[in-house]
Amino acid sequence: MMRLLHLTYFLTFLVLLIPMKSHGQKARQSFLLEKNWRFFPGEVADGASISLDDRAWQSVTVPHDWAIYGPFDRAHDLQDVAVTQNGEKKATVKTGRTGGLPYVGVGWYRNSFDVSNFDAQKKRVVLKFDGAMSEARVYVNGKEACFWPYGYNAFHCDVTELLHADGMNNNVAVRLENKAQSSRWYPGAGLYRNVHVIVTEKIHVPVWGTYITTPFVSDSLASVRLETSVKNADGRLVRMVTAIMDARGRIVAQKENLQKINYGKPFVQNFEVSNPALWSPEQPNLYRASTQVFVDGQLVDNFETRFGIREVRILADKGFMLNGKIRKFQGVCNHHDLGPLGAAINVSALRYQLELLKDMGCDAVRTAHNMPAPELVELCDELGLMMMIEPFDEWDIAKCKNGYHRFFQEWAERDMVNMIRHFRNNASVVMWSIGNEVPTQCSAEGYKVASFLQDICHREDPTRPVTCGMDQVSCVLENGFASLLDVPGLNYRTHRYTEAYAKLPQNLVLGSETASTVSSRGVYKFPVVKKGDMIYADHQSSSYDMEYCSWSNLPDEDFALAEDYHWTMGQFVWTGFDYLGEPSPYDTDAWPNHSSMFGIIDLASIPKDRYYLYRSLWNKKEHTLHILPHWTWPDRVGQQTPVFVYTDYPSAELFINGKSQGIKRKSNASLEERYRLMWMNTVYEPGEVKVIAYDVNGKPAAEKIIRTAGKPAHIKMEALQDSIVADGRTLAYIRVQAVDREGNLCPHADGLVQFDVKGEGEFRALANGDPTNLEAFHKPQMHLFNGQLTLIVQSVEKAGKIQIEARSKGLKKETLIVNSK
Ligand code: GAL
Repeated sequence: MMRLLHLTYFLTFLVLLIPMKSHGQKARQSFLLEKNWRFFPGEVADGASISLDDRAWQSVTVPHDWAIYGPFDRAHDLQDVAVTQNGEKKATVKTGRTGGLPYVGVGWYRNSFDVSNFDAQKKRVVLKFDGAMSEARVYVNGKEACFWPYGYNAFHCDVTELLHADGMNNNVAVRLENKAQSSRWYPGAGLYRNVHVIVTEKIHVPVWGTYITTPFVSDSLASVRLETSVKNADGRLVRMVTAIMDARGRIVAQKENLQKINYGKPFVQNFEVSNPALWSPEQPNLYRASTQVFVDGQLVDNFETRFGIREVRILADKGFMLNGKIRKFQGVCNHHDLGPLGAAINVSALRYQLELLKDMGCDAVRTAHNMPAPELVELCDELGLMMMIEPFDEWDIAKCKNGYHRFFQEWAERDMVNMIRHFRNNASVVMWSIGNEVPTQCSAEGYKVASFLQDICHREDPTRPVTCGMDQVSCVLENGFASLLDVPGLNYRTHRYTEAYAKLPQNLVLGSETASTVSSRGVYKFPVVKKGDMIYADHQSSSYDMEYCSWSNLPDEDFALAEDYHWTMGQFVWTGFDYLGEPSPYDTDAWPNHSSMFGIIDLASIPKDRYYLYRSLWNKKEHTLHILPHWTWPDRVGQQTPVFVYTDYPSAELFINGKSQGIKRKSNASLEERYRLMWMNTVYEPGEVKVIAYDVNGKPAAEKIIRTAGKPAHIKMEALQDSIVADGRTLAYIRVQAVDREGNLCPHADGLVQFDVKGEGEFRALANGDPTNLEAFHKPQMHLFNGQLTLIVQSVEKAGKIQIEARSKGLKKETLIVNSK
């Protein structure tokens, strides 16, 4: 019966498609401006002029980040500030706050594009920027087309009137300017996200012109409501044909409606979907609405909107519900940079990062503290990660001298509207955040600004709740700021959760930002103590995961809050990945330090030990059994060297060279003992450390062994993807390690490794995750950091083998082949 129904739907749809066929061509055309850009790093007086000879400028491909190529320098964007959110009262010199990279200044980009069959009376041409850092002034054929100050937001402008009459060889020039002291982290620089050219008929669906909601959701039935805006059709009769298709392309519902377009009002269609495949992190089922717009029997536009069917609810005392089930966010906050790639967006890099997070059991991402790239949101739809999208780190009151506060009054509403319309059809987005730790929290009338922003969210998208990351708990509990939000979000301040719950009418607390535990991958400090603001001469933090900043805490506290109180909504850890800039606790005149230490995963996308702590609680499908530290300590023979085990099993027994060190059980003796198994008194002797994990019945269930490494013998390379796509964009991540003759990782190896990439691929970047490393990411050589680094190679537009050779003095060289198909 279902099959018959599908067939009937399909045939009807075919009939409806006929007018499009007879029209002879697609009604819209969209392409990227990726290649052949010319870039100049500096001011150019006539940068927008058509006649300017830009042949001597650098030739670049967009997405492009002009600052990531370095060099690192202490002098870049030195900031003399008191970071009041961190409790500082006096200004001090902050080094590396924005990564020590040259993002400040003016940069110009130029390119040209053709629009075939152009007719200014009949067509519309729009340029869409997914993000341009920053204060973008866009010129087409010498005339200013648009200005958009906020570097993180997507914007678009209609350039039809500026094109040449024949549509050919149109010059586009973009001037960008980044002011010093405009950021608290590395913002990137340039056209770091995609640039689109969209050509439509005069009557058309504008950019972000559809809005899909699912007003009723159950296992057996869902209703789908589609609003489509149609531009330049006011007063006309419009026929709209929409088919809803499931992930396999089968039509599951369709409608044809005829309606007059009233000025500024969208066209509404409603659908029923039986037995919907609901979207969730565990089953990220997606649908598509494919719409055709006809006027006077002619197809004027065709538009596709991807969406998911799911229900989001917030319940007092209960928390967040997805599809009728309560769940606590197991989320991370992430900045937008991709480590050694900088801010330049790359889909395969994002995918790689998100897959690592998924394996950890993470189910949510907060885009801190700005609008994400559309590719990130689409990947979260596909892979199953819920999103909290957040636009701002500042409102009307400054955190940075030249931050967004300069634009807030004039631009905030426009920025919010673009963000919400851009992402309100994405299934993964379950909540909006209107800001992060804005100083406005504490101003007497700050609540008015919060209401203004929350109201915009409610107007543009009444289906999602709104939160704000608040750190000034005393202010917001007293001044009415926290009580007006749909969801009160606390950043850190775990000791104030119960008070906030009791005082606030929502009867809920979200951990909008948590932990900020600090660690450097592979670095262990002795003695092992739990302590805030620990500083060491080597500018590193310990991977025993016991160190945090004065305002922050250890993961264990957040785990307990989520488990112990029904009204907590879970958390977004600061951060999933290390990012460029904000090298706390080494941000005050502590150069060299260019990247954060908060990441669960380092800047080279290599998991730190902490990854396994989160995994042991969050990944419910697979077991975790992880030992730390490494067991190669020639200077520690006979010294107390604690061993920690991160596991989901309730107990385990530890053996050093076959000698039992006793069984440890998770217990309530302390927060750390609740989540970690810790042998504090173990003494180092070279050899073997073995852990046997016991299940709830006390039966041996899993075993793990680590061994003391000998001298580094050779380089080992492991491609983390089986093969890559030969599209000139896809990346392969390759883990590079120094290992001894038996293949054990040499955890102190720090030699220089040189790479040679040949065949159908290119060297792209290197990173070793060391926050103090000043080697450029884009030279094919780098020192190992604690025995490891990551090499990134990129495919070219030709399939074949990519040959990689790695050489390091005194070690056997290694070659690796990556297939590009
Ligand atoms: C928070 C802030 C983040 C980051 C973090 C570091 O207060 O929201 O942006 O600065 O601290 O711990």
